[in-house]
Amino acid sequence: MTQGAFITFEGIDGCGKSTQLAKAADYLASRGIEYMVTREPGGTAISEKIRDIILSNKNSEMKNSCELLLYLAARAQHVSEKILPALEEGKVVLCDRFHDATLAYQGFGRGYPLDTLNNLNAFAVSGLEPTQTFLFDITVDIAFDRLQKTGSTADRLESNSRAFFQKVREGYLSLASSHSSRITLLPAEKSIEELAQKVQEDISDLIN
Ligand code: TMP
Repeated sequence: MTQGAFITFEGIDGCGKSTQLAKAADYLASRGIEYMVTREPGGTAISEKIRDIILSNKNSEMKNSCELLLYLAARAQHVSEKILPALEEGKVVLCDRFHDATLAYQGFGRGYPLDTLNNLNAFAVSGLEPTQTFLFDITVDIAFDRLQKTGSTADRLESNSRAFFQKVREGYLSLASSHSSRITLLPAEKSIEELAQKVQEDISDLIN
């Protein structure tokens, strides 16, 4: 039995979701609510090693099928080792990406059928679904500008073309319309403070 709330943050690279996740964590801390911050791929020692393999530019020969199964392997470990135990302790879990990212990137982006992805994911996560998801939507041009301004080298996923990210963005928007009660769609070109306020309001409704 899971008791806490499982809140995920999604969007294309450069959308600002990680900044918003950190703000949401500050908000929970200020209210004295027990929470855990984590991310995908990653979150446990094993899953962080898998993350390094997936994102390394040295692995340019990686097949899409291998990439997909590595994301799911990292998730299987993460869910059972870290997320489910935290939820069972009643914590609010804030997770940077989850299965919607697989649907958007490997489904809409790489072209894998969503049914196949949902079946594989169901095996990996033992039925766990986010309580609520915040989707930060932004144009691919703005996201690319932001990523360039950070000055850091693009990882293997970030090195994909604008056309790929356009498909991923459209995929996320399609998921938001088909799961409108779970996914809150936020226009990510708004100010950091405005977005943080909206996220706080929704989290407050969820946990009260
Ligand atoms: P991050 O940079 O937001 O931490 O995410 C790492 C990259 O992995 C990002 O480009 C999105 C991608 N990704 C997928 O393609 N599929 C997935 O299932 C997940 C969780 C992430």
